[in-house]
Amino acid sequence: MSDSNALYQERKCLGIPNPQDYHQFIKSVLIPEDALQRRIAELGAEITRDYAGKNLLLVCILRGGVMFLTDLIRHIQVPVMMEFMAISSYGAGARSSAGHVRVTLDLATDICNLNVLVVEDIIDSGHTLKSVMELLRARRPQSLEICTLLDKVVRREVVVPVRYRGFEIPNEFVFGYGLDIDEFYRNLPFIGAVDLEKYQAA
Ligand code: PRP
Repeated sequence: MSDSNALYQERKCLGIPNPQDYHQFIKSVLIPEDALQRRIAELGAEITRDYAGKNLLLVCILRGGVMFLTDLIRHIQVPVMMEFMAISSYGAGARSSAGHVRVTLDLATDICNLNVLVVEDIIDSGHTLKSVMELLRARRPQSLEICTLLDKVVRREVVVPVRYRGFEIPNEFVFGYGLDIDEFYRNLPFIGAVDLEKYQAA
């Protein structure tokens, strides 16, 4: 057994999180850092044009949307506020069948009469955002739109009205730039696709 493998086994036994080096399981870099940043700048410019003369509240869905929000907001040139919301995860299967989600962190701002733009890292089945939109719409904002960095259109189970989309992606298990695998790898500056046969859970 190599030293690094022995260390891996020892940490695993102790219950210490043991993330693999992503180089060991990455299948491909789906979206490199420069392409991400170029597209985010374009989205910021488009949002700036569309909301000219208005105020805007960005609502980030934790936790995956954080990286995208903080880069996007720097490209928006209208007066902008930001808020955060967290949704409980029942697991994909349960979420798909139940078709609803639970809010674990709610907004601190009353959004009545505000222009609200929900910022997400990825839309998959669409159930999360469908529920979030219903909940926010009931609070009577002036306008309510969605901006998602990634859109796995092929996986959609319910209709969600996406106003701004960074990239449509294939049905790959993706990570990086806010998206995790078992809570790690969110800090990577690019979007990668996982080779599931090579990935070992931490
Ligand atoms: C991801 C993503 C969306 C949701 C999309 O969140 O950020 O909120 O899944 O899936 P859906 O379209 O099938 O509903 P996740 O539960 O992984 O939480 P995280 O952002 O904290 O990683």
